Amino acid sequence: MDTNSFAIAIMAAGKGTRLKSKRPKVLHEIGGRALLLHVIAAAKTVVPADHIYCIIGHESERVRAAVASTGVQFVLQPEQRGTGHAMQMLKADFELSGAPLPKDLLVLSGDVPLIRPETIAAVRDVHLSEKAAMTILTAVPSDPTGYGRVLRLTPERAEVTAIIEQKSLTPDQLNTPEINSGIYCFETKELFRKLDALDTNNAHGEFYLTDIAAMLVAEGKRVVAIKAESVDEVLGANTIAEMMHLDAAIRLATAKRLMAAGVTIFRPETCVIDAEVSIGPDTVIEPYVQLLGKTTIGSESRVRSYSVIQNSAIGNNVTVRNGCILDTAEVADNALLGPYAHLRPESRIGEGAHVGNFVETKKATLGKGSKANHLNYLGDTVIGANVNIGAGAITCNYDGVHKHLTTIGDGAFVGSDSTLVAPVTIGAGSYVAAGSCITEDVPDGALALGRARQTTKPGWVAARKAAAEKKEC
Ligand code: UD1
Ligand code: CA
Repeated sequence: MDTNSFAIAIMAAGKGTRLKSKRPKVLHEIGGRALLLHVIAAAKTVVPADHIYCIIGHESERVRAAVASTGVQFVLQPEQRGTGHAMQMLKADFELSGAPLPKDLLVLSGDVPLIRPETIAAVRDVHLSEKAAMTILTAVPSDPTGYGRVLRLTPERAEVTAIIEQKSLTPDQLNTPEINSGIYCFETKELFRKLDALDTNNAHGEFYLTDIAAMLVAEGKRVVAIKAESVDEVLGANTIAEMMHLDAAIRLATAKRLMAAGVTIFRPETCVIDAEVSIGPDTVIEPYVQLLGKTTIGSESRVRSYSVIQNSAIGNNVTVRNGCILDTAEVADNALLGPYAHLRPESRIGEGAHVGNFVETKKATLGKGSKANHLNYLGDTVIGANVNIGAGAITCNYDGVHKHLTTIGDGAFVGSDSTLVAPVTIGAGSYVAAGSCITEDVPDGALALGRARQTTKPGWVAARKAAAEKKEC
């Protein structure tokens, strides 16, 4: 098909009053991605980005910035006077630019995010084969309340007579089960010809795009409906509750895709897994795990319950024990984390390394086979291979103004409860005695002691007690 004969418009200018949120509706997220980005992604599988016209209005700059990288075109609807008005703005934009009109125009709603590319293509194909002026995607959900209803000529026929909005339904129309999804295909010139005839004589005082259906029918034009294969993909996201319903659906679909690829996910309905997460086969995800952003996990790894992992790359055969928090971290094969490890951005955990209980890392590299197992803070630190960091040892990386680097060479042993005051270098193979406060570099192979000498007074306790008793007498 000639690509210039077909374009997609996405209506995304509305405020989303029912959300009671400051954030524009189409930027609310489900499955870890803004509603509008879901819709654009589906549209881009059908037409190139420059054939997609995104109609923006409420908080338009914020919406534009959030989706600009997709390469779609933008049309401004400065005042939001209804879905029909949104299309009037698109028409005005074509008139102003003089761009050739696409023969057919598919219209998507920015708040109907689960629409599948196959369905968009099906609506287009039925529209073309039916030679319709308007084709409406419909569904029959368990509760149609709130949606516009589609009235067919007869229940069996494709032809539609009108779309009636919820508030305008007559008592006998209230039982109409078939809803308008807000997704349509139009013969562009027929749509544009009728747009100026829309009025606002309705319950919302808005220009309804849905009124076009009856207007075209009145002129003897063909308006048909096609039912979506699944109801979920045409559900709207008008309230937080509706969004969370869609969020659960999308995450379950992601979990099912991963399970089909060999990942074991226990109780998938308790896990929050973003759509872009990838996991290798034979990895096990325990209940109540969150895997967010562009996280990748290799094969034969295990993520135990209550861990939250975001934008991180985890290798093969890694164990993330319970309650770990990872943000933008890299973890090499065979590493062991947690329980309760906190890996902040730019943490790089080497092959087979261990990061244990209540250890926090930030901009820290832990070399192959190194261990920091208990109660450490390692910030702005480069640690070589096979280093042992004792319990409670920390880097003092911040002087109140600047951050400084701590370098620890291969095979070094940092005793428990040491404080390494950066900038400082601990040489390869050196020992730092437990309880040391290290302020000077330690050469390779040296022992550094930075603690007060212990004084022991034998028999002191008994002597003190005896002295105290004497006083009391
Ligand atoms: C709309 C349909 C309804 C359908 C439902 C499906 C109309 C009049 N009604 O109702 O028949 O069942 O979708 O989800 O079209 N928008 C703009 N500019 C505006 C107003 C809205 O771009 O001036 C955008 C919104 O951002 C949204 C979409 O159009 O993405 C639909 O608007 P919304 O107000 O949610 O319409 P509904 O009441 O859901
Ligand atoms: Ca809606």
